[in-house]
Amino acid sequence: MSPMSETADAAAAEPGNEGEAAGCHRFVVVASRLPVDRTEGPGGQVEWRPSPGGLVSALEPVMREAAGVWIGWSGDTGPAPGPFRANDLDLVGMGLSPEQFRDYYEGFCNATLWPLYHDVIAPPEFHRRWWDAYVTVNRSFATAAVAQAAPEATIWVHDYQLQLVPQMVREQRADVRIGFFNHIPFPGYEIFAQLPWRRQVVNGLLGADLLGFQRRADATNFLRACRRTAGLATRGSTVRIGDREVRAAAFPISIDAQSLEQIARRESVRKRAGEIRMALDEPDTVLLGIDRLDYTKGIPVRLRAYGELLREARLGPRVVLVQVATPSRERVGAYRVLRDEVELAVSRINGEHAEVGSPPVHYLHQSYPREEMAALYLAADVMLVTSLRDGMNLVAKEYVACRYDESGALVLSEFTGAADELSGAFLVNPHDIEGLKDAIVRAATISPGEARRRMRLMRKRVSEHDVAHWAESFLGTLERPPGTWPTL
Ligand code: G6P
Repeated sequence: MSPMSETADAAAAEPGNEGEAAGCHRFVVVASRLPVDRTEGPGGQVEWRPSPGGLVSALEPVMREAAGVWIGWSGDTGPAPGPFRANDLDLVGMGLSPEQFRDYYEGFCNATLWPLYHDVIAPPEFHRRWWDAYVTVNRSFATAAVAQAAPEATIWVHDYQLQLVPQMVREQRADVRIGFFNHIPFPGYEIFAQLPWRRQVVNGLLGADLLGFQRRADATNFLRACRRTAGLATRGSTVRIGDREVRAAAFPISIDAQSLEQIARRESVRKRAGEIRMALDEPDTVLLGIDRLDYTKGIPVRLRAYGELLREARLGPRVVLVQVATPSRERVGAYRVLRDEVELAVSRINGEHAEVGSPPVHYLHQSYPREEMAALYLAADVMLVTSLRDGMNLVAKEYVACRYDESGALVLSEFTGAADELSGAFLVNPHDIEGLKDAIVRAATISPGEARRRMRLMRKRVSEHDVAHWAESFLGTLERPPGTWPTL
């Protein structure tokens, strides 16, 4: 049953706080987080605001057409909100106890799986108590999905936090179709093999009918893990388990390019971009980094390259770097260490090179609304994406989407999924500081004609392969009977 083509036959939810009756949703999204953030109104009442992100805008049309529901964590350790309706969507808010927050979220998700799947940039920790919490929380998400799904529904599970959900759902519901998409890299077998629960994770994922990865290399790594950990035979992109076939392939995620470009074109946003350049004292070149403050993003190498370029006077005197580092996972050890490292590097550069009133690095440890982000993208001559490992990196695509006048240049790490698609970027190995420095200089001194040629190429890709295209191609493949899959 296609969630894309059928009209909703379940009754629409009543306005108010109640979601639809359980078991009547033909499309169920299961993700770590809800697409809304809890805020408190002036009288202390709970309000839900849409959280920024392309995923919800991509899935919204499918959610509406197929009486969809979104199951996710509310983001705090209070009681589970349960089913409710907000922004015209049926939602089920899951809860985490303080112990689950520590052992499942901060522990197994973000101090075991996250570093392991990002090529052990930080050492992963393996604790049996954290694993137990991961199993328990995955089970509660699976139970919620089973309760919400109509007969023959489509269930789409997202990301590394929920890898056991596909199999847990399948054990209870043979009638449903299950997709899984991994938003982060899937590591090579030698790294994945470190995980004491590698077999359980592979089995958990194999409960799905279709597994989506960002890059072909991630899908290949997963197929190898199936052979090595579970002794399963693979053929092309399929794995056979008994009488079932599971497919693993690349579906590179993207952004809602059109709506972001519309924001960038707004008069108010263009004016704000001008104000930002003015506030920076009208430099000749604005370099920009926008990242979650995460050790995978390569912020220290970027700062090192920039500091050396200033010392060597290779960028001219009137250059600034604006580095937005959105706070993230602040209580996890490796993130605290990183914050200190980044802030020390920023103050060293500013200490050595600033003049009164004009520091060469503007460091902003804050999050911003989409309009301000778009204004920053417009204000920047060169975007720096220097991740050591990154599933996709949507910031690179957002920059491209905002540059509607086809100006600007992108310096992009080879170790991002985006590097497979954005051939107009200056590709860099972020471990090679000299190569990175050369690329920054080339991007900062690019001729307008060359910038236009490169940007046009990237804009074509991002506008043709947007997030709606991603969702359609994943769900379209999931809905096909095995044997009729297109070559991926
Ligand atoms: C990455 C992951 C997401 C995650 C996000 C923010 O993009 O792929 O699944 O939600 O980071 O991390 P957080 O720990 O705040 O959910």
